[in-house]
Amino acid sequence: MTLDIRPLTEEDLSAADRIFRLAFGTFLGLPDPMAFMGDADLVRPRWRAAPEATLGAYDATGLVGSNFVTRWGSFGFFGPLTVRPDLWDRGIARALLGETMALFERLGTRQMALFTFPQSAKHVGLYQSFGFWPQALTPVMAKAVAPAEPPPPDMALLSRLAADERARAHEEIGRLTNAVMPGLDLAGEIAAAAAQGLGDTVLVREGGALAAMAVCHVGAGSEAGSGAAYVKFGAARPGKDAARAFERLLAACEAFARERGAERLVAGVNSARREAYRALLARGYRTVLQGVAMQRPDAPGTTRADCYVLDDWR
Ligand SMILES: CC(C)(COP(=O)(O)OP(=O)(O)OC[C@H]1O[C@@H](n2cnc3c(N)ncnc32)[C@H](O)[C@@H]1OP(=O)(O)O)[C@@H](O)C(=O)NCCC(=O)NCCS
Repeated sequence: MTLDIRPLTEEDLSAADRIFRLAFGTFLGLPDPMAFMGDADLVRPRWRAAPEATLGAYDATGLVGSNFVTRWGSFGFFGPLTVRPDLWDRGIARALLGETMALFERLGTRQMALFTFPQSAKHVGLYQSFGFWPQALTPVMAKAVAPAEPPPPDMALLSRLAADERARAHEEIGRLTNAVMPGLDLAGEIAAAAAQGLGDTVLVREGGALAAMAVCHVGAGSEAGSGAAYVKFGAARPGKDAARAFERLLAACEAFARERGAERLVAGVNSARREAYRALLARGYRTVLQGVAMQRPDAPGTTRADCYVLDDWR
C-alpha cells in the first residue's frame, strides 16, 4: 500500500471526523460506532487551532487515518490518532507516528505525551516502540454541578476583562504555567478557546495575584459536548497555597459550568498528581473513563505528587 502523509486540509475534516468516530466507536464496541462522543468535536477545533500540526494518511482512495499534535510550549501530546477500521494492522498508524515524531522534533518539543487504553497491549506496544513509556493512570472524572451556589469571590473570566487587564492576565498565566513546568505555555489553547467560541479561561485571584487558571470548553461543537463543561487544562500556582487555590479553581470551574447551563463538569487528572486527584475525589468527582499516560522521555513532567494540574491529553 502506498501512503502519503501530509497535513490535513479543511476539505478533509468531515472525512477525518467520520474516521475518528468510527475508529473509536468500533474499538469500544458501541452499538452505533458513529455516536462516539456525541456532538463533542475534537477534529475541527484542533485543526482550526493549528492546521500545520495535523497529519492525514492518504492512499489511492483518499484519507484513511489522521493524527493531531497539540503544542503547549516545551510540552506536547498527540491524538486523537485514528485509522479506518477495515485497514487496521497494516502499518498506517506506524506511518503516521513516524511523521508525528518528526513534527515534534520540528516544534522543539522537549517532553512528549499521550493518553491511551491501558488494557490494549497493541496500543501500549505501538507507542512504546516510539520511545513512550507507560506511567500512571489518568482518570477522567465528572461531577454534576449544584444548581444554586454563588460563584466564588475573586473569580474572573478572561473574556470579560478590559484589554489592559487581559494583557496582564496573559502574562500572569505564562508565569504560572512556567512555574508548573519550565516552558509550559498554554497561550495557543487559550487563544483557540476564545477565537473559536469553545469556552473561556477561568481565573482565580488571591490578594490581587493570579492563584489558579483553567481553560474550559462548554457545549456542542467544543471538546465538552452538550450538557457538559470540560477542563481542557487547569493549574494552581505551585507553593504552599496551591491546595487552597486548587479548591477554589474547582469551585470556579463549576460556577462557570453552571452559568453556561452545563449539567456536569468533566476534568481529567493523572493519578500521580496525588494531591489533586485526592481533592477531586473528596469533592465528589467520579471516574467516567480512564487511560494510561505515556511519556517520552520517561520523566514525570507535570505528573508529580505536588502538581495541582488538570488535563488528560486525549
Ligand atoms: C490504534 C490504531 C490507531 C492503530 O492503527 P493501525 O494502523 O492498526 O496500527 P499499525 O498497524 O500501524 O501498528 C500496530 C502495531 O501494533 C503491534 N501490536 C499489535 N498487537 C500487539 C501486542 N499485543 N503487543 C505489542 N505490539 C502489538 C503490531 O505488531 C504493529 O506493530 P508492527 O508495525 O511493528 O507490526 C487503530 O487501531 C485505531 O484507529 N483504533 C481506534 C482508535 C484508537 O484507539 N486510537 C488510539 C487511541 S490512543
